[in-house]
Amino acid sequence: MIEVKGLSKSFGHIQAVKGVSFTVTKGEILGFLGPNGAGKSTTMRMITGYVPPSDGRVTVGGHDAWEDPLPARRLIGYLPENAPLYTDMTVRAFLEFVAELRGLEGARKKQAVDRSIETCSLQRVVHQQIETLSKGYRHRTCLAQAILHDPPVLIMDEPTDGLDPNQKQEVRTLIRKMGVDKTIIFSTHILEEVEAACTRAIIIDRGQIVANGTPAELKRKAPQAGAVVIRVAGVAPEAVEGALKGLGTVRAQADGGVVVARVEPKAGSGSDGMAGEVFEIAKKGGWSVRELRTEEGRLDEVFRAITRPDTVK
Ligand SMILES: Nc1ncnc2c1ncn2[C@@H]1O[C@H](COP(=O)(O)OP(=O)(O)OP(=O)(O)O)[C@@H](O)[C@H]1O
Ligand SMILES: [Mg+2]
Repeated sequence: MIEVKGLSKSFGHIQAVKGVSFTVTKGEILGFLGPNGAGKSTTMRMITGYVPPSDGRVTVGGHDAWEDPLPARRLIGYLPENAPLYTDMTVRAFLEFVAELRGLEGARKKQAVDRSIETCSLQRVVHQQIETLSKGYRHRTCLAQAILHDPPVLIMDEPTDGLDPNQKQEVRTLIRKMGVDKTIIFSTHILEEVEAACTRAIIIDRGQIVANGTPAELKRKAPQAGAVVIRVAGVAPEAVEGALKGLGTVRAQADGGVVVARVEPKAGSGSDGMAGEVFEIAKKGGWSVRELRTEEGRLDEVFRAITRPDTVK
């Protein structure tokens, strides 16, 4: 549905996006991650056809986003970073106005406006002037205008920014629900959001893609992923350390009557199977095992390791 090929954008001497390529298919919810200034918004603006690429191209449903923008834009609902709103209109009047711009009239217009209001839970404020709305409701009004024409593609730039935790949760649920039969790209700085809502994530740093995979695949790249923690009784920490040190870096300490040991696998040995080896060693040594688990990687560690490797211990 969305195809991005060798996309680049320069503003004077600033290279905001440098040769980015990826595709997104129907039913995918792609999370766009990256530090401030990474090029997320610029990439989204090029996908929605608001900014011309310096190089490369974007097609949406087969239409070139810049050369053939009208059919491409018809397929897209866009929530920009700083969405403009007509603040002296009421919510309903604004949505009706946007519906008219989208070519909807009469019963179809009413239906579209009602559906957006319901989807974004705006019923309580439909007759309120936009300038008197709280930030969260303003934000939902922007979201409502983006989905008004029920587009098959949604591009949302930080859709949960500035919302309270309940509203963030609501928007994530909404994204997941809409993602079933749409193609969605959204950017965020919140890593739990990627785990909660995305089928795939791309990490972009200094204009380039540095990781592309499912949240689970990305988590496995965490420096801590695959470490095994074991709690045993009836054995000294030194003995545990000695028995396990062939597997990787071991730290064992006494905690009350038990010993807790953490084994970090050797670099490049992957995260599969070490728990089994630890268990065999424990069995051979006759240790009384109280707990044995493999640590999952954390997305924030992956993010930091990839985008700022110098800050990771
Ligand atoms: N219109 C513009 N003119 C000049 N420079 C720009 C323009 N738009 C973006 N840039 C620059 O391009 C780079 C990427 O910006 P962009 O807004 O795409 O980042 P972002 O990943 O969305 O960051 P954030 O997380 O802060 O929203 C930045 O260095 C920014 O200053
Ligand atoms: Mg941005």
